[in-house]
Amino acid sequence: MLALNQKTEWTIPGPQTLPLIGRTLNVIKFGKDCIGYSNQLFSTYGNVVSLAASGGTNIYSPDTDCPGTILAYGPEIIRQVTNQHHIYHKRPLSGTLYRQKDKSKRTQPLNNFGVGLFGVNEEAHLQQRKLMMPAFHKHKVESYRDDMVAMTQYEIDQLLIDKSCEISQLMQRLTLRIATKTLFGEDINLVDNTAGELIQEVLNCQRSSFIKLFPFDVPGLDFHRYLNLLAEYETKIKTIIAEKRAKGSNDNDVLSMLIQARDEESGHPLSEAELIAHTGVIFLAGHETTANALTWTIFLLSQYPQVIGDLVNELDSVLHGEPPKIEQLEQLPLLDRVIKESMRVLASVPWNGRVTSQTTELGGYELPKGTEVFVSIYHTHHMAEIYPDPEAFKPERWETIDPSIYEYNPFSSGPRLCLGATFAKMEIKIILAMLLQSFRWEYINNQKIDRAGVISIKPKYGLSMMVRPQDHEFNQGVGNVEGNIRENVKLC
Ligand code: HEM
Repeated sequence: MLALNQKTEWTIPGPQTLPLIGRTLNVIKFGKDCIGYSNQLFSTYGNVVSLAASGGTNIYSPDTDCPGTILAYGPEIIRQVTNQHHIYHKRPLSGTLYRQKDKSKRTQPLNNFGVGLFGVNEEAHLQQRKLMMPAFHKHKVESYRDDMVAMTQYEIDQLLIDKSCEISQLMQRLTLRIATKTLFGEDINLVDNTAGELIQEVLNCQRSSFIKLFPFDVPGLDFHRYLNLLAEYETKIKTIIAEKRAKGSNDNDVLSMLIQARDEESGHPLSEAELIAHTGVIFLAGHETTANALTWTIFLLSQYPQVIGDLVNELDSVLHGEPPKIEQLEQLPLLDRVIKESMRVLASVPWNGRVTSQTTELGGYELPKGTEVFVSIYHTHHMAEIYPDPEAFKPERWETIDPSIYEYNPFSSGPRLCLGATFAKMEIKIILAMLLQSFRWEYINNQKIDRAGVISIKPKYGLSMMVRPQDHEFNQGVGNVEGNIRENVKLC
């Protein structure tokens, strides 16, 4: 036991760092290629590692006394971290930028942006989550089916046969439209600069490395632009909230439901600040994650001709070229297995990030209070003892395996299980079923496919495919994939 006030020593193994800039270099290496760098660290030091031997790194926690960062994986680690929510706290998605929130009037929107469910813990989290649940119930989510179909059809109608298509952009555009419509009730085609597009711009700006190094509100710097965008977003969403309140809206969008939600005990509605915070987080958590899962699935299918052939046969025999109806989604077992396997091999969200609220023990090491913990969904999904031949894309393995939630958790586990999992799975199925029946997606050879991103993994340089008529010539475009994606998945 530690004596009161005694500082916990940092004993978690990790790479020795050069003086002065060494720790920063490790943070940069992690940011540049979190999967590649953590592969190295895990194979050298085991399944619980520190980003730097002596601690002292800080990637995500806005607390000023962060003692260091650890990375860990494995079902037991996942069970402990995701279930002990009184110990492992979540922090706002703005990460270290959240520190700036009270610097000036202009930084005030940081009190809301990226906060929502990510900014509350324990009782407050459970209470707020309960309030949001009705907007994500199965029958409610199913009511978005027609919007999803209409927007996918719109994109299909724009595509030209025998032309190339940048698939990750297509998926970003499509999921952005669906998120904007289902969340705010706005359609991107009808409104300029929608709330959805604004959040996307804020997010892009937040990703710049310079913004964290120079968080100063000076014209020309990224942080200045970030604050401008945040202000624009707040104004926009406040206007939408006011309009919906004024017309006593019964619209079929998530924001309208949140406006009407009342706390069971107190009967209180969500405040304007809470509404801004929640919608932002739902959007951030739901849009890119889904786009990336779709992009990787189309990529994998393009390299596994037998699987795509069988899948298109299944789609044709059940759907006969039509978009899936809700009840048909259950009649597509191979589609289900393909998505499961794709999200195992290339988990769109590779990490669960947490900050310890007290000194605790994990994997045999003592973690000081304030430690940043990144638990790897990706590495757990690649454990050979759970998934033999883990880098192979084998949808058929799901016919015989039934891993626990701690062994397979693309949508996390425990009280913070993804609120939008049902929404995402339905969206992915509808989009894939429609795109794969309409066209054959042919990989354009010799592209470099490197992975990028930390919160969600995507192809660094995008992914181009030829749009072919659905002629079942699935061997076309197989092979000649370059890039570090070959470390994640076996390709011929
Ligand atoms: C393929 C798509 C998606 C993936 C892989 C995914 C994955 C995840 C994961 C891993 C978490 C837990 C993060 C953590 O505990 O650190 C999470 C949380 C969350 N997700 Fe998703 N998600 C997806 C789509 C969506 C969609 C479409 C929505 C909303 C429409 C959504 C809303 C949320 C929310 C609100 C949370 C926070 C839950 C909480 O803290 O209680 N997600 N998601």
